[in-house]
Amino acid sequence: MCGIVGYIGKEDAASFLLQSLKRLEYRGYDSAGIAVIERGRLVRVRRAGKVRDLEAALGDTPLAATVGIGHTRWATHGAPTDENAHPHVDCNGRIAVIHNGIIENHAPLRRKLADEGHVFSSDTDTEVLAHLIESLDDGNLLEAVRRAVAQAEGAFAVAVLSQDHPDRIIVAKRGSPLVVGRGDDASFISSDVPALLGRASEVQFLADGEFGEVTRDGYHLFALDGRPVQGTPHRVSMDPVAIQKGGYKHFMQKEIHEQPRSVGETIREKTEPTGAGLSLPGVERVPTDFDHVYFVACGTAYHAAKVAEYLWEDALPVPAHAVIASEFRLRNPHITPRTLVVAVSQSGETIDTLMAVRLARSRGAHVLALVNSEQSAIERESHGAVYTRAGVEIGVAATKTFTAQIAALGLLGMALAERRGGIPAPGTGDALRELALLPGRIVEALRVEERVKTLAEKLRRASDVLFLARGVLYPIALEGALKLKEISYIHAEGYPAGEMKHGPIALIDEDTPVLMLAARGPAYDKLLSNMEEVKARKGFVVAVSDAPDDPNLVRLADEVLPVPASTGIALPILFTIPLQLLAYYVAVARGTDVDQPRNLAKTVTVE
Ligand code: M6R
Repeated sequence: MCGIVGYIGKEDAASFLLQSLKRLEYRGYDSAGIAVIERGRLVRVRRAGKVRDLEAALGDTPLAATVGIGHTRWATHGAPTDENAHPHVDCNGRIAVIHNGIIENHAPLRRKLADEGHVFSSDTDTEVLAHLIESLDDGNLLEAVRRAVAQAEGAFAVAVLSQDHPDRIIVAKRGSPLVVGRGDDASFISSDVPALLGRASEVQFLADGEFGEVTRDGYHLFALDGRPVQGTPHRVSMDPVAIQKGGYKHFMQKEIHEQPRSVGETIREKTEPTGAGLSLPGVERVPTDFDHVYFVACGTAYHAAKVAEYLWEDALPVPAHAVIASEFRLRNPHITPRTLVVAVSQSGETIDTLMAVRLARSRGAHVLALVNSEQSAIERESHGAVYTRAGVEIGVAATKTFTAQIAALGLLGMALAERRGGIPAPGTGDALRELALLPGRIVEALRVEERVKTLAEKLRRASDVLFLARGVLYPIALEGALKLKEISYIHAEGYPAGEMKHGPIALIDEDTPVLMLAARGPAYDKLLSNMEEVKARKGFVVAVSDAPDDPNLVRLADEVLPVPASTGIALPILFTIPLQLLAYYVAVARGTDVDQPRNLAKTVTVE
């Protein structure tokens, strides 16, 4: 959601900004813009639409500028138009501001500034910052920005460029992510490290309340009270190849195919080198006497948390509840010093999840973050962290991070059971041996791709699709439905199959495809009975099953998608694969923007 980039060095700033904005496209946006200083003048170009539209607007004549800021905007206040695109400028067009997040008190600030004579030209909350900085600027831009953000309420990351100070970019952060970086002969800013891969050799994440100035020689950061901040620079270790499509048509397709590795890495880090025991860095600090668990998460991460409910109730005999993070604060969760809260988030920046973490901590819970990116806000505000090792995920639809979350949550549950019991729980050895085979089984599961592609042609015109499952596969049905609606825009619902006759059965007719996840085990026969009920109403049944040759299943299903046989943590992961592929190929067949579906953002930093 919104992307920030900035460059100050010796090279062509506009080219760098465009290239970096393209790398941030995955975050989701609907307009883009840059501001640079060319021959002492601030030049701003903005366009509604994609970065390529901005590129076209810039034309072929390069801007002679070595300093600039750029932004991709995901509209919150004001429609996605050229006028509302960032950067926003002050009355004289000398100061340019880009901003992620929301200035909650923008309305009173705007009224006050308008009364003082400032003229506004957009509907955005951001523009108030440009005018506020203008009104406070007495020659010390850093101080003017500090005082301006001190008056602003809400969560934000801000970068400011002024034609009166062409040798610096001023930054400030509260809530939304922001990094500054250093490379050869240049300094950078960004909302996300991928934009700086191959350019910055080290980066530093700003903490909340920090502000600073970035010059050609480096950066200087300060705490809110003006104290210089030392901070910890991090070497940039991600490989730029991670943000290229590598021969695939879309990032989503590439990321689906990366799952043998992403799940494998996530498991490998949490097991001993021999593979015989667990070794989870960070778990040793979790108090062992917790008597109940809340998982807080949103979207796909919530579905991984729901899988964990099932896995943890098996591994740890304590009540475990997955709660949608935005709802967590609207109820009265039962939190005591013996509550363990696990915050699950790919980005580590989702504001709803962050707010749930804050609430849980304020009430005395022990909070553990389960995140894919180190140094994220959710990790920083938690007591400890466990990582998924999925690598950077560019497709807005989460795929490899989801399966990595299931693997990490499953192993975390086993590790906590071991810590509480003092010895490995019975069956740990078998479970780990099975997990060691999982990457190979994911490769096997991916072989269904061609069949899914053919099936997608049949489903592309559906207007509603149902996903039904029982037990630990119920959250996978939810995830299958979410994936399909996110990228194909087909309405889809996931339900526990046992609930079908309590309502959703009314939807079933010959035009309603029903995906049924049928795993061998205690719920298998009941699922087949549900299949009979769907067939009796002429529904089109697609069985996703690890018993693809069972004659009863073959008789009932119109299509069968096979899944390799497995148990435990591996089962929900393997059943996810055909559903991800199905969403992908239906979206491709419908011609939607798979990697950047409409209205969606990768990282949701507004409530
Ligand atoms: O970064 P997070 O895991 O906290 O994100 C949570 C959701 O916004 C995210 O999973 C969203 O639902 C994805 N678009 C799913 O594909």
